[in-house]
Amino acid sequence: MKKFTLSVAVAATVALFAGAASAQTTDVLEIEGLAITTSAPAPSFLDIDEVISGWAFRSTETRALQMDDFENPAMIFVDQAIDDWNTVDGAAGKSCASCHEGGPEEFAGLRAELPRWNEEQGSLFNMEDYINFCRTERMEAEALRWAKPRMDAMVALISLQSRGMPVNVAIDGPVADIWEQGQEIYYTRVGQLDMACANCHEDNFGNMIRADHLSQGQINGFPAYRLKNAKLNSTHARFKGCMKNIRAQPFGVGSDEFRALELYVASRGNGLSVEGPSVRN
Ligand code: HEC
Ligand code: HEC
Repeated sequence: MKKFTLSVAVAATVALFAGAASAQTTDVLEIEGLAITTSAPAPSFLDIDEVISGWAFRSTETRALQMDDFENPAMIFVDQAIDDWNTVDGAAGKSCASCHEGGPEEFAGLRAELPRWNEEQGSLFNMEDYINFCRTERMEAEALRWAKPRMDAMVALISLQSRGMPVNVAIDGPVADIWEQGQEIYYTRVGQLDMACANCHEDNFGNMIRADHLSQGQINGFPAYRLKNAKLNSTHARFKGCMKNIRAQPFGVGSDEFRALELYVASRGNGLSVEGPSVRN
């Protein structure tokens, strides 16, 4: 019986993919005159030669939306975050602007290194952690909920300051164990379809899966505005969606598992440009 179920799963998996034209990596992404690196030599721990941005796998129309900030629907949310940045909130009577006088521009380069180890707190910090740390500890305001519009917009505003800079996430030292945990999750088959992230995003990128052109599942473009749900999507929300698609019980947004996975997936994109906020279907 077990064997039977297994072979059905394998057959289903094989039937899922269809060959297609590979990513058009020769095309150049330029946003507001800024050159964006959409393919780069893969980090040495990977078995593939090249890492490629998700942008290269999208349709001409979807790509075009990201090439012009006036067309990019994500920019509406960035504008909302600028208002939020200047709004006093919490018992300390402060806004982000009260302390970060240089504006969000102060954070140029930050997105490229996240997630990273926070020495003082003794834990892995991603962008949501930095934002909430300032809110709760420095503004005495409520933490923003992860994967919700207000948080995703602030992450987008700060990510934008690093646009075009090469992703450069550290994987050694104090984060080494977490990185390995993330790597293990990436290669572990789960769910009713019995698939791992790697089965789609490493073994089959460039192929079609149903109507979708499979990318490498990179996160250099996050948060991503999706035409499908007309809002910004965080990395953890996207991980959750992919796990649901293979009918696995997803880990929680903000969970240790997704934090580890985010670190690992981010490092798979080392060398690509920070693109966030990107546009995807
Ligand atoms: C009371 C002052 C204060 C307020 C208000 C404040 N911050 Fe901070 N923030 C700091 C200090 C101090 C640090 C640590 C030193 C640094 O990196 O600037 C910091 C660090 C950060 C960092 C990490 C920077 C880095 O390079 O490591 C981010 C991101 C950040 N703040 C975002 C925000 C956002 C977004 C808001 C508003 C929601 C905010 N902060 C409100 C004082 C403040
Ligand atoms: C059954 C195949 C499949 C599996 C397994 C899968 N995904 Fe995906 N994933 C997709 C499809 C389809 C898309 C949308 C098209 C694309 O970008 O590849 C996608 C998109 C993504 C994206 C967005 C990429 C971008 O540039 O917008 C990320 C990130 C991602 N997946 C991560 C993961 C992670 C992490 C796992 C494992 C927990 C996973 N995926 C498992 C099919 C899969």
